[in-house]
Amino acid sequence: MTKITVGTNKNYDIIIQRGLSGLKEFIFSLIKGEKIAVICDDVVDKLYASEIISLLEEKNVVKIVFPHGEQNKNAENYIKIINTLAENKFTRHDTVISLGGGVVGDMGALVASTYMRGIRLIAIPTTILSMVDSSVGGKTAIDLPAGKNLLGTFYQPDGVFINLDFIKSLPEREIKSGYGEIIKYAYLEGEIEPKDLESEISEELVYKCLKIKQKIVEEDEKESSIRKLLNLGHTVGHAIESLANYKISHGECVLMGIEYAINVSKKYFLLSNEKVEKMQKILYSRGEFTKESFDSEKIIEKIKNDKKSSFDGVDFVLLKDVKKPKIVKLTFKELKELI
Ligand SMILES: NC(=O)c1ccc[n+]([C@@H]2O[C@H](COP(=O)([O-])OP(=O)(O)OC[C@H]3O[C@@H](n4cnc5c(N)ncnc54)[C@H](O)[C@@H]3O)[C@@H](O)[C@H]2O)c1
Ligand SMILES: [Zn+2]
Repeated sequence: MTKITVGTNKNYDIIIQRGLSGLKEFIFSLIKGEKIAVICDDVVDKLYASEIISLLEEKNVVKIVFPHGEQNKNAENYIKIINTLAENKFTRHDTVISLGGGVVGDMGALVASTYMRGIRLIAIPTTILSMVDSSVGGKTAIDLPAGKNLLGTFYQPDGVFINLDFIKSLPEREIKSGYGEIIKYAYLEGEIEPKDLESEISEELVYKCLKIKQKIVEEDEKESSIRKLLNLGHTVGHAIESLANYKISHGECVLMGIEYAINVSKKYFLLSNEKVEKMQKILYSRGEFTKESFDSEKIIEKIKNDKKSSFDGVDFVLLKDVKKPKIVKLTFKELKELI
């Protein structure tokens, strides 16, 4: 078992281990009220909900299930869940447990942050992506018809429990997607080396990823400066994700986005071929990933609509070298020339 304590406006522990031993004690040490809502999607419900709920039988547990998939991270399901809490007379002292991938995590966290202006939240991530990224850092969100993650808050959890055994049931597509984010971390300052990317997921690898995220969010919780570094590959990645109608996994879109970032960096910083090759090698450390080419005009149009863009340009994460990322404000005109 490994533990990380994150020191944001709320301090909280992240437990990383294999198995569920200690989970009951962890949850009970964090809660006060009698009621717990376990929020999950239909896939995770069938796999793990009963195992988790059986640990909580002394409490009054309400299970709330919504259909899996990004298209269900929406306002309709959000209101339904909030109504279920209200109908079950949840009070400010009660707790939400989000059990699932990033979709459930983002939804559960938004629910916890807004129900009665904020109730307790414990995250139990079940995908690689949610373990190494989305369950930590306090971003909550649902999608609106006009775009992804347009409705959200910053709200840190009270605790995060990572059980690596949940990965065993993950389909290959989701494993690949999770590695997209892990590969992203290898370009940021921290302990992840190329050889780590070739190894299977381990307590140590998750720990190294989360140490990078921890350091960044502790310094810049609300993304006014260095937290933007975590968007490496995401500016173009999100554009591609949307152009592909979310048929390509998030992690693979991030890898495509990093490839763009490397190419733009090459032109912007006049990087040597040797440096570019070093960067490319990391990108392919888990083998090939989905490639689809989109018209650069269309990519830029999508970037203009991204919530991170301003009217004249976007903060783009470029790479001077591996572990030397730099946030550069590029106008859309410059981007057009560089992409
Ligand atoms: N809040 C943040 O900081 C942050 C960061 C990155 C991504 N995100 C969000 O995370 C979401 C993507 O998360 P994701 O990739 O985990 O997707 P996801 O939650 O949709 O999970 C992927 C699929 O795997 C299934 N699943 C989950 N756990 C499983 C398990 N253990 N075994 C088998 N199947 C399982 C789910 O039911 C789903 O069908 C996006 O909505 C994205 O916006 C948020
Ligand atoms: Zn991401």
